[in-house]
Amino acid sequence: MAQQEVREGWRTGFGFILAAAGSAIGLGNIWRFPYITGQHGGAAFVLIYLLCVALIGLPVMLCEISLGRHTGRNPVGAFRKLNPSSCLLAHLFGAGIALCGVMALLMKSWGWGGLLLLIGVLIFKYRWTLVGVMGVVAGFVILSFYSVVAGWTIGYVFKAATGQLAFETMEAANASFVGFIGHPGWAILCHFLFMALCVVIVCRGIRGGIEKVSKLLMPVLLGLILMLIVRGLTLPEAREGVRYYLSPDFSKITPQCILQALGLAFFSLSLGMGAMITYGSYVSKGQNLFKSTLAIVGLDVLIAFLAGLAIFPAVFALGFKPDVGAGLAFVALPAVFNQMPQGLLWAFVFFLLLLVAALTSGISLLEVVVAYWVDERGWTRKKATLVFGGCIFALGCLCAASVMDWTHIQPVQRALTTMFGRTKDSFFDTMEVVSDWMLSLGGLLIALFVGWIWGVRRATNEIRQGSENFADVHLWSVLAGLKDDPSHNSDVHVITLASVWGVFVRFICPVAIVIAFLNTIGWLELKGPETIPEPEPAAIELEAETEAP
Ligand code: PHE
Repeated sequence: MAQQEVREGWRTGFGFILAAAGSAIGLGNIWRFPYITGQHGGAAFVLIYLLCVALIGLPVMLCEISLGRHTGRNPVGAFRKLNPSSCLLAHLFGAGIALCGVMALLMKSWGWGGLLLLIGVLIFKYRWTLVGVMGVVAGFVILSFYSVVAGWTIGYVFKAATGQLAFETMEAANASFVGFIGHPGWAILCHFLFMALCVVIVCRGIRGGIEKVSKLLMPVLLGLILMLIVRGLTLPEAREGVRYYLSPDFSKITPQCILQALGLAFFSLSLGMGAMITYGSYVSKGQNLFKSTLAIVGLDVLIAFLAGLAIFPAVFALGFKPDVGAGLAFVALPAVFNQMPQGLLWAFVFFLLLLVAALTSGISLLEVVVAYWVDERGWTRKKATLVFGGCIFALGCLCAASVMDWTHIQPVQRALTTMFGRTKDSFFDTMEVVSDWMLSLGGLLIALFVGWIWGVRRATNEIRQGSENFADVHLWSVLAGLKDDPSHNSDVHVITLASVWGVFVRFICPVAIVIAFLNTIGWLELKGPETIPEPEPAAIELEAETEAP
């Protein structure tokens, strides 16, 4: 039953922008973006990433925020409020999935069969509300592994502070990293600390918790990253790293890396699971949603870009290779910092930066789950935060105990294998892959819902409130600065920001996401004219060791 009390909202529009940017800026920007850029040859990948963010991420984010503000609810409540009483598309979709389930059952694939049948029936019954439910479930799944990685950053901040990160070689750094994440006790303790921080902040609510912390931590984050950039750029030989990062080599671009850039853009902008619907639901009607979206996306891109600028010059200046993969932050960088004067201080600054970024994202993931129980089930915020913070902690313990293999939780592996067949390398990997699927699917469904079901017209009417230029001024007049000139501002506008946005939401975004989605689930393998160069032998060893010690 929906609760009808007045909901809390952001104190200021700026507070919302900082909190939403805090959600977007996280491990995706500072950990994943630089290492994926490193693997794909630098600047050209950065350009592709920027295009994905601008052409796909931005329109979808505007969908989410406007859905949130219009309904003033969590993702489930938002879709429930706008759910059409009957929807042919949803019924066809539900029937199709249920049919796939029956076929799987006939082929004796009990786990997949049962799951698909259940989902099909649920789609038939609840239609689009299920997109919101998927968002809440995704919040659960993502935070369970996200907080494990965030926990490592707490461990590394501590290690840097106590002088335990002085590695002479990358092999030593790798051995230490593998030892650390492979020790369930440490990993779980750090994961607990991170979850506890998230719970305390979310418990304090929107203004007193999330907004306050974001206003405090976002400037800290910017300060820390600027310190690292100044340090990196003033090293001798830093120029090579800057050149690698800033001069594009388009021969390195393959379809594969375009799709990876799109996936990364989704993850990094916190799209596809309703985090922005939830944050948008606390925004006041007067706020300019279009400009806010631009600011959030701009800040997210800026920080990802600056993270690269902080990391690559230092990596090159000290003679390391940029393409070591996922171990870049936790393995290569400690070794890089160790060769600088006051290396431990810089390692401390870097891991603190990573922790701050992860924290403002972690609270947004928890808030999605909490908002659902508060809005729809009438729970108090404190109870919802404690109960679900605890549940996510428990699920995260499974991830923490099985980052590299299933040794510590073999019964879980047996159960999953019996139900779904082959399992991934570890529970941690499984959760990461499940969340990738959920974000792509969620993003697609949100764009389809706004474009075709709720409708661009109604969405535009929502965005119009507070954004005068969005739908009522010709796009060229806006861009040319002539929006106040009556002769350029007639009553009939063919091209406005709103009309361009509508075309993206209805056609371009869904098609692009379907392609990326099919690629994520492995049904579409695009091959480029050139294959990505094999990583250096050292990098292979490093990855192999990290995955299977
Ligand atoms: N955007 C966050 C990051 O870059 C991760 C995230 C994904 C947060 C989805 C919320 C929702 O790290």
